[in-house]
Amino acid sequence: MGDVDPAFIQPAQHRPKLSFTEAHGIPLIDLDSSSYAAMGDLVAEIGAACKNWGFFQVINHGVPPETRRKLEEAARRFFAQPPEEKRKVKRDEVNPQGYYDTEQTKNVRDWKEVLDLTVKNPTILPASLDPADGELLQLVNRWPENLPELREAFEEYAGELEKLSHKLLRLISLSLGLQENRLSGFFNDHTSFIRLNHYPPCPIPHLALGVGSHKDSSALTVLAQDEVGGLEVKRKADGEWVRVRPTPEAFIINVGSITQVWSNDEYKSVEHRVIVNSEKERFSIPFLFNPDHSVMVEPLKELVTEQSPAKYRPYNWGKFHANRKLSNFKNLGVDNIQIDDFRLQESSS
Ligand code: OGA
Ligand code: NI
Repeated sequence: MGDVDPAFIQPAQHRPKLSFTEAHGIPLIDLDSSSYAAMGDLVAEIGAACKNWGFFQVINHGVPPETRRKLEEAARRFFAQPPEEKRKVKRDEVNPQGYYDTEQTKNVRDWKEVLDLTVKNPTILPASLDPADGELLQLVNRWPENLPELREAFEEYAGELEKLSHKLLRLISLSLGLQENRLSGFFNDHTSFIRLNHYPPCPIPHLALGVGSHKDSSALTVLAQDEVGGLEVKRKADGEWVRVRPTPEAFIINVGSITQVWSNDEYKSVEHRVIVNSEKERFSIPFLFNPDHSVMVEPLKELVTEQSPAKYRPYNWGKFHANRKLSNFKNLGVDNIQIDDFRLQESSS
């Protein structure tokens, strides 16, 4: 990334403390239900983790370690290549899928480079943000031609992660008192994507962030982080930033903003960020589990009562997602939309 560009410097209030709290980490949940006296115990644990933390780790999740290792190795090989090789799969305005190192979170540049790949290839999204415009856009993956093993490893990993995400979705549904498959139908033509993240060593780790503080707009995110560490979560209980200690082979799960809306704020998506360090590079692979573009996201009617009225008006997932994907290229004259833009006024009673 060369000399430090001032675009990477975080405003004072967002600069990280490099000494950190790790003491009371996020919950660690064993997904092997035979380890519980009853299935209900697992569901209750998931529910408590979603409600109290919005973040948890899972073990015995069923994804073969080898499947994960192959993709992690392919990602390392991809990012180790010279810039001109990586630029061969650079994203552009027509197809905003591929390699880039220019992402900004809240107008400050992130200290990272990424390769974005959709799970369904192609993936269908709206072509514009205009609610009246029904034109669609196809996102097509750009595969690095010189690394055929990356595509192979990706497809195997994506299949496993899709299964795990559906399992988590069923557990989350049960934990909200819903039918197990209440949410599954929203994902038939899903728009999920996997991001290969590389955080190079950073000469100014006290001034920059790998990813600035944000919430994921997904239904849920399943993250594989390596052994270096650096992910921090804003603890709901007291607003402190806490490190998520790497647990070998575990996945980190976080509630995304779609689940926040479906659950009518019973479960909330939580702010997180990535700290970089001056010596070690770090790799991570989030799987963002997203519904079909046509889905209207709104509080589920089973969870809306007279005492607890809907806190959001419905929004179209595809238009929301397209806003994020396309706004990097076009000056759309609008800020990135947030789910809070769909929050209804609290009633005064
Ligand atoms: C993200 C993210 C965390 C990490 O890409 O949205 O939060 O550990 N990544 O890389
Ligand atoms: Ni995130």
